[in-house]
Amino acid sequence: VSTGLGQALACAYLDRGDRVYGVSRRQPSDLVRRQRFAFASVDLSELDAVVPRLESLLRGVDALDLVVLNAAVLPPVGDMRETPLATLKHAMDVNTWANKILLDFVFDRVARVDQVIAISSGAAVSSTRGWNGYSISKAALNALVRLYAAERPQTHFSAFAPGLVDTGMQAYLRSMPADARYPGLEGLKRARGTPDMPAPDAAALRLVVEFERLRAEASGGFHKTRAR
Ligand SMILES: NC(=O)c1ccc[n+]([C@@H]2O[C@H](COP(=O)([O-])OP(=O)(O)OC[C@H]3O[C@@H](n4cnc5c(N)ncnc54)[C@H](OP(=O)(O)O)[C@@H]3O)[C@@H](O)[C@H]2O)c1
Repeated sequence: VSTGLGQALACAYLDRGDRVYGVSRRQPSDLVRRQRFAFASVDLSELDAVVPRLESLLRGVDALDLVVLNAAVLPPVGDMRETPLATLKHAMDVNTWANKILLDFVFDRVARVDQVIAISSGAAVSSTRGWNGYSISKAALNALVRLYAAERPQTHFSAFAPGLVDTGMQAYLRSMPADARYPGLEGLKRARGTPDMPAPDAAALRLVVEFERLRAEASGGFHKTRAR
């Protein structure tokens, strides 16, 4: 919730009057001043340290309408051959395995969990050259969601690709020098400031509505935003 889509989603739900529990490493200075917002600083790459931080955040909570698994890292764009295994493992830890820890904790401690949305990406299925560990981690995330959905019929699960959103992740991609191996980077630069790449606040308002609609779909599926 410290920045980007997660921060904007937290804000959108608070504006609706919902109570929001958020995590990230950095504290979101604007959100922590809001009523009905609770925050814990958690480094999701430190897998063994996640549960103790969640214990205090969710103490006494017995129902959650929605769990959004949003945090992710984008490893440096580059070919698989050039990408160290440690970089791929780090992306898997944050983008995939931390979500197993979050889900297991929530299902263990919270009696009612209605819906889980895992924020995925088109890269989960496109495996575009250069997106190395990001693609792999999001493909695995989609599988993780489908597996949990089969195990837990009382909760509705979706993996969801939000489309392009103008966040820090996109700022990093724009900062990359042109490289003939990764022609998609130029398209991302062109998309900025167009309806194809909304600001996080605008995207979040749309996603809140789309998340509701996903509940009519079969649990466990992968969906892309309808906005593009
Ligand atoms: N932006 C896009 O165009 C786009 C497109 C498709 C999918 N997505 C997906 O949308 C989601 C949000 O992306 P974004 O664009 O908003 O990214 P972002 O601006 O880079 O924000 C990422 C968020 O994840 C948190 N995070 C990263 N590493 C963490 C860690 N080790 N522990 C705890 N929190 C961590 C960050 O908080 P801290 O740094 O404070 O920890 C930050 O709040 C991601 O799942 C991304 O893959 C984005």
